[in-house]
Amino acid sequence: MVTKKHILQWLENTANAMEDNRQYLTKLDTAIGDADHGNNMHRGFKKVKEQLPAFKGKDIGAILKAVAMTLISTVGGASGPLYGTMFMHAGNKMAGKEELTPKEMGELLAAGLEGVKMRGKASVGEKTIVDALEPAVEAYNQSLGNGSDFQQAMNRAVAACEKGAEETIPMIAKKGRASYLGERSKGHQDPGATSVSFIIKSLNDACLN
Ligand SMILES: Nc1ncnc2c1ncn2[C@@H]1O[C@H](COP(=O)(O)OP(=O)(O)O)[C@@H](O)[C@H]1O
Ligand SMILES: [Mg+2]
Repeated sequence: MVTKKHILQWLENTANAMEDNRQYLTKLDTAIGDADHGNNMHRGFKKVKEQLPAFKGKDIGAILKAVAMTLISTVGGASGPLYGTMFMHAGNKMAGKEELTPKEMGELLAAGLEGVKMRGKASVGEKTIVDALEPAVEAYNQSLGNGSDFQQAMNRAVAACEKGAEETIPMIAKKGRASYLGERSKGHQDPGATSVSFIIKSLNDACLN
């Protein structure tokens, strides 16, 4: 079972990952964007981390929705509304829940992906968050469907997410600021695909204990 404690740990781990990788994400966004993705993500999740004590009395759905509101108001850029919608959809799906079964975790992840796709209209191959998140969600749910336990399915999700982020390197960006570069966006890993891989890795790390 994934409990509220795991969810709060996930958010804290994510905030720490964004702090540790702030310069790295900004470096990726310097190559194909405007050099702010690391700062955007760090600013947003730093605020989330500050709010964690106030989230303790909320159910999982309400926590995720509160995260969404914070990200929408603090991250900025293209990624703020996208990650905001991801957490909002996940929160709506998990409304009222105090803990999650492995199957419900799959629904949380699928709802988050659906939120990103609804907001950004991107599909796999366009060098965005979707290139890492979609394979992660598919790997998780397929693995669970094939009889894997929660931890195995999470490990598959992390591996698929990191692979998806790496696979954005040869892609030509079709969405967002990087798309202005056309062919010149080739040869660089997408910042958003990379930040979502930190989010999924942070979830796995939180659920390990
Ligand atoms: N339509 C979209 N769908 C999914 N992800 C997107 C979309 N547009 C941009 N992104 C993601 O947002 C990232 C850039 O975020 P950020 O630098 O914070 O915003 P901005 O591009 O406004 O400066 C990109 O690397 C990409 O992964
Ligand atoms: Mg940017």
